[in-house]
Amino acid sequence: MDLRIELDGRGDLAGQLYRQIVELVAGGLLRPGEVLPSSRELAGRLSVSRNTVAAAYERLFAEGFVQTRAGVGTFVSHHVEQAGPPLPAGESRPPRTTRIRPVWAELAEPPDLSAATPRFDFRAGIPDVRAFPFGAWRAAVADQLRAGAVGSGAHGDPAGDPRLRAAVARHVAVSRSVRCGFEDVLITSGIQQAIDLISRVLLEPGDVVAVEDPGYGPPRVLFRSQGMRVVGVPVDGEGLVVDALPDDARLVYVTPAHQFPLGIPMSTPRRLALLEWAARTGATIIEDDYDSEFRFGGRPLEPLQSLDRQGSVVYVGSFSKVMLPTIRLGFAVAPEPLWGALRKAKWVADWHSVQPMQAALASFIDDGRLARHLRKMRRIYAERHHHLQAALHSTFDGVLRPLPSLAGLHVSVVSDDPGFDDLAMARRAEELGGEVMALTFHSVTDIPRVRGLILGYGALPVEQMDEALAVLRGHLP
Ligand SMILES: Cc1ncc(COP(=O)(O)O)c(C=O)c1O
Repeated sequence: MDLRIELDGRGDLAGQLYRQIVELVAGGLLRPGEVLPSSRELAGRLSVSRNTVAAAYERLFAEGFVQTRAGVGTFVSHHVEQAGPPLPAGESRPPRTTRIRPVWAELAEPPDLSAATPRFDFRAGIPDVRAFPFGAWRAAVADQLRAGAVGSGAHGDPAGDPRLRAAVARHVAVSRSVRCGFEDVLITSGIQQAIDLISRVLLEPGDVVAVEDPGYGPPRVLFRSQGMRVVGVPVDGEGLVVDALPDDARLVYVTPAHQFPLGIPMSTPRRLALLEWAARTGATIIEDDYDSEFRFGGRPLEPLQSLDRQGSVVYVGSFSKVMLPTIRLGFAVAPEPLWGALRKAKWVADWHSVQPMQAALASFIDDGRLARHLRKMRRIYAERHHHLQAALHSTFDGVLRPLPSLAGLHVSVVSDDPGFDDLAMARRAEELGGEVMALTFHSVTDIPRVRGLILGYGALPVEQMDEALAVLRGHLP
């Protein structure tokens, strides 16, 4: 262990050493159980006699800061208090004076995702971890953790591992008809970072950003944290109501393939109207296609990105659903004028995404393992989707209306009663050990435009579905 100790060479050296170790322990820099260097080693490092170190260690031992054990040596006691560095006698801790931007106090706390898996799990957008090919993924990652595979030891390209950029370009061209080549792709830490970078590159604080209402929350929090003005725009049966867009919006964030949370696709006329609107106003569109690799019928509609002739669309995608959210890999497919600024923004944010993970994912895609995993998951999710769709009509008949959905990992059911308390239902489900989300939770405005429930089936096997639906049905008003 590399202790940060500086002795001034004069006076009571053992006392100085003792005090500095006490500060490291009290400040939490030395944790309970951590082993201290032997007295011989530390004496050598500090150029003092071994007796000096032994005297300091004895005092620490006598006062209970350290313990000794044969075969281990001297280590920090398990019962010491670690409450921050001690202050000199007579001083009290000054009040905090660092100014934190007020917006951070106003924004919501990150969700607490530490709870155990619920008894019935209708959480939206959670992939089935039990079906994940851990063995193959472990082998792909392990293969990258060798000296020969990690490059020269320097940082990588901020735009991403070239093999992964090429693999993503092929993957989205085949699975989602996105028109792009290797150089259009920027690798990010998930969609959330892609949105962050796009916003940093395009917007000034105070700019207007239009979002779907109801809509996916994390980008809204992000825009607000950057000082943008967020405006909610209603969604109807065809997707975002383009006529309701504010003309001063500089950026529009949409989920056309599978609107989050309603689950409906944006119609082709609406897509064309949105592109026309963007061409007229000069705004940029972020097209979030987070889960449409899972499609269970119907013909996929052309992404905005491939319909776009003006360079108005930045398409963002993620490996959170097709792989796991914890690997934190996503991408942006951007028009050429944005490439340079986005690459710089990624560089200043975190230099580049974790290189061995990028390379492992590239090989996973290139040798067909991702496609195999996708085929398997499509079969599993399709069965759940069909089962749920069939059961919804009989379960909620006359109370909650299922919305049409042909893709992704969730469907939504809505109430036509403006007094329907979906938040109370979600709370009740939680009390019963389950988890289901209320549409109100995704509302941009205080008075929600739609009320109902989002039913995710990524983590809910068919065998548990009927029982879970019966529990929900039993608690409808
Ligand atoms: C609408 C939407 N966008 C994006 C994501 C995923 O984002 P990320 O790639 O940051 O995990 C999710 C997942 O929950 C989502 O629901």
